Parts: sequence; structure tokens; C-alpha cells
Amino acid sequence: MTSYLRALRLVNFRNYPDDTVLLGPGLNVVVGDNAQGKTNLLEAISFAVTGSSTRTANDAEVVRWKQDFARVEARVSFDDSSDERKVAVGYAPGQKKRLTVDGASAASLANYSAGGAGVRAVTFFPDDIRIVKGSPSDRREFLDGLLSTLKPSYARAVSEYAKAVQQRNQLLRRIRDGFSSERTLWTWDRKVIELGEEVLRGRQAAIGPLEHYFESSLRALYGSEKAAIRYSYSATLDGYAETLRGAHSSDIDRGTTSVGPHRDDFEVLLGGVNLTTFGSQGQQRLATLALKFAARDHIRGETGEDPILLFDDVMSELDERRRDFLSGYFLESTQAVITTTNLEYFDAEVLGRARVIRISGGAVVDTTSGSVSARELSSQKKA
Ligand SMILES: Nc1ncnc2c1ncn2[C@@H]1O[C@H](COP(=O)(O)OP(=O)(O)O)[C@@H](O)[C@H]1O
Ligand SMILES: [Mg+2]
Repeated sequence: MTSYLRALRLVNFRNYPDDTVLLGPGLNVVVGDNAQGKTNLLEAISFAVTGSSTRTANDAEVVRWKQDFARVEARVSFDDSSDERKVAVGYAPGQKKRLTVDGASAASLANYSAGGAGVRAVTFFPDDIRIVKGSPSDRREFLDGLLSTLKPSYARAVSEYAKAVQQRNQLLRRIRDGFSSERTLWTWDRKVIELGEEVLRGRQAAIGPLEHYFESSLRALYGSEKAAIRYSYSATLDGYAETLRGAHSSDIDRGTTSVGPHRDDFEVLLGGVNLTTFGSQGQQRLATLALKFAARDHIRGETGEDPILLFDDVMSELDERRRDFLSGYFLESTQAVITTTNLEYFDAEVLGRARVIRISGGAVVDTTSGSVSARELSSQKKA
């Protein structure tokens, strides 16, 4: 089963007052000048299929200024059926977010984003280069985000684990300051270990396939040098409980939990060189793309379904050979929505097979499919 978005309506979302965007399978190119709403449109699509913004943890930011709610509605098509699914996410600051699938409330945000909406997405925003370039927490967030779209229980384990570690840290400080005994720590450790093991198990199972996909994606994008991902454990699954307990006294001294998946990282290597430390900007960018392609392959491998691709301004910093490669990649995907300021990044032949959506000032001004534009079509009908 493969699904994609047929249409998206944005109401008071960022700079869109109320507009509907029609999307096709395969490549959709969103074109417009700077600050017209291209990135906002991709954010809205991902908001509709995951229930959250990729750009901010503060939902209030997506609400159009001076308005009191934002809403996105999407129609999801399935290639093996003529049924459509209508999904919607509504948010009014101060109220609980409303997620619905065919009018019925979704069981939870975790369920909705892990396939409940009927479609999954892999996004690329220019800032995502921090996955390769940035801190360990950026890389963990990438892994956890990917695993959460595959399994709602993983998303819950990650967030409960983070809370448990916070509470353990508070307890460590109370023990250090003489307000609690070390015995209480053993009780907390059990909870931390149980959740931490679930997180570790998830990551451990994913890293092998991800590395395999990453290697072949980076080879296609970059060249023949051997690429690799190497997960670095603060404690392996087997030795986790023992290592955590072995760190009791130093954890109490520092008032913080030094062992567990919240301290792990993974190295991104090209030709044996760590790209986080030594990569050029270009290598880091291509490695980020390869990680996103690997995420897509992994989702497909695990679910049998191809996620849609939402890639923001990905062509601008690439050379022609790589732009051609990406054009082909997107054309052959179930659905890709790609933003650009410049249509010349795409061959005429590619554009002929794509849907081109022109954006200006928070509105769709024109949609061209194949070589005939919607506007031309409607003027032909009138004539
Ligand atoms: N909550 C909001 N309400 C209204 N306008 C917003 C909101 N958030 C961002 N914008 C505006 O959206 C515009 C840019 O949108 P964006 O999608 O980033 O443009 P681009 O086409 O360059 O990707 C900016 O002018 C910004 O001020
Ligand atoms: Mg933009």
C-alpha cells in the first residue's frame, strides 16, 4: 500500500489566510520568491501528517499573526483503493491540539504521527545539516524522530525515559545535599533502566539497516569513498544496568546521570574521517541528505510503504550532476514536494513530468501539471 497527499488546505497557518494546494504523485515543485511561504507550505504538510511542526516546539508560532487558531486539512489517497482519508490538525493556543482522521479523534499524537494519518513523511530543511555538523543531541533527535514514526511505543519510551532521567537527577542532588539516602536511588534506577533499555533496543535494531542505506545513498550522491555510521554507547544494552550502578558515586557528586541512551551519539564517517569534526560544508550537506534518504529506505523496509519527501530548498547549493540525480530520485518517488526560488535548477523534461505550484504572499497563484497550466485549462474551458 502506498499513499500520498492529494490536497492540503491551510487556514491561518503562518502567512496563509486560507488556501488549498492540490498535489500530485511523483514530483511537485513549489516555486516562489523569498519570504512568500514556500517553507511554510512544507511545514504545513508535515504538520498535517505528523501533528507537529518540524521547525518549532511552540505550536503557537504556526498560528497566523492576530488570529486565534490554525488548521490544516489533508486528503490522503491510497494507490490500491479509491477511498480517501481526510485528516486534520487544528490548534488554538491554550487548548489541546485536535487531531482527526475521517472526523474521529486520533488515539494520541504518537499514534497519529506513526502512520495514523495514513502517510509518513521524511523532511529536509537546510538547517538539518546540524544532524551531521551539530551536537550529539541533534543526532539523537534524528534517530528518535525516525524510530517514533515507526512505532508509537518508542516515542512514549523516549519521552518517559527523559522524564525519568530528570527525576533521577533531582534525586541525585538531594542525596548529595543530604536530603535523601542512596537507597532510594536503586528504586529509581530500575525505572530508568527499563525505559532506557527500550530506547537502546530500538536504536540498536535500526542502526545496522540505516548504515547500509546511508552507505549506498552517500555513494550515489558523493562518490566511491566508504561511508559509515558508528553508534557510540555510554553503555551497551548488556552492560547498561551494571554501568549505571557503577557510576552511582560520581553521578551523586555531579548531580547528573552520566550513563544511558541520553548520552549516546553516532559518528558519521566518510573514508574513515569523522564528518562532524572534519567534513567540509558540502560533505556535511550531502551526508545529511544521505541520512534522510536512509531514513526513507528504512521506513519503507519496516512498513512496506514509501514515505512522502518534503525537501526545502535542496537544489540551490548543489552542482548540476547532483541536481540531476535528485530530480530523478524525486520523480521516481511516491510523492516529493520540493521548494525552490529558481525553476532553472530543473530540466524542462523533468518539469514536464512534474506539478509546478507557484506561491506568492501566502497564496497559490498558479498550478501547472505537465505542460498545461491550471489557469490555461480554465481559460480554455471558458472559451
Ligand atoms: N505565524 C505567522 N503569521 C504570519 N506570517 C508568518 C508567520 N510565521 C512566519 N510568517 C511569515 O512568513 C513569511 C515567510 O515564509 P517562508 O515560508 O519562510 O518563505 P519562503 O518562501 O522564503 O520559504 C515571512 O515573511 C514571515 O514573516
Ligand atoms: Mg524558505
